[in-house]
Amino acid sequence: MFNYTADISVLSHNIIKDNIKNFDIAIDATLGNGKDTDFLSKYFKTVYSFEIQHMAIENYKNKEIQNVHLIEESHELIDNIIKDSVDCIMYNLGYLPGGDKNITTNCKSTLISIKKGLELLKSQGIMAISMYSGHEEGKKEKEEILKYASSLDKLLYGSMLHETLNRNNAPSLLIIEKK
Ligand SMILES: C[S@@+](CC[C@H](N)C(=O)[O-])C[C@H]1O[C@@H](n2cnc3c(N)ncnc32)[C@H](O)[C@@H]1O
Repeated sequence: MFNYTADISVLSHNIIKDNIKNFDIAIDATLGNGKDTDFLSKYFKTVYSFEIQHMAIENYKNKEIQNVHLIEESHELIDNIIKDSVDCIMYNLGYLPGGDKNITTNCKSTLISIKKGLELLKSQGIMAISMYSGHEEGKKEKEEILKYASSLDKLLYGSMLHETLNRNNAPSLLIIEKK
């Protein structure tokens, strides 16, 4: 089986674990089934997790993890709700696995959130964005995000794409690091 190239989610966790300097505050911008929030809660003192689906929030609430603050709002409002600067922000785009495929992240609000998120990110902080181009909205979302990430000032941000080359529509991982 594959190790490094098998799963961009595991890859994103390893990049965060190995490269973050301060493990104070992290944001999961897309809670979903909570795998990324579980990961972040093990390493960071405080985690804020956004999700628009009530059921996903309720499911996670049952875990009663003390350092996780659940926010039932769109991540577009990230700057209205989070007033501290943060060390890490994760986006896992698309729809909830096993859930309603019509409820998906969308290009416009995702981009607004990413732009605001980069403002909140501390120096040496990392933003990890997992993107899925296997559905129409995901394809458009990926194109727009990559256009934006390519335009970032190279003196302020490192912007790196991890992409599988020999599988169609495999998810890809974008890492943005703030100087
Ligand atoms: C691919 S899933 C996330 C997977 C998740 N990180 C995990 O570990 O299970 C994407 C999630 O984003 C949520 N979502 C969609 N639009 C959103 C928005 N504007 N703000 C916050 N969450 C959103 C969806 O409801 C869905 O649960």
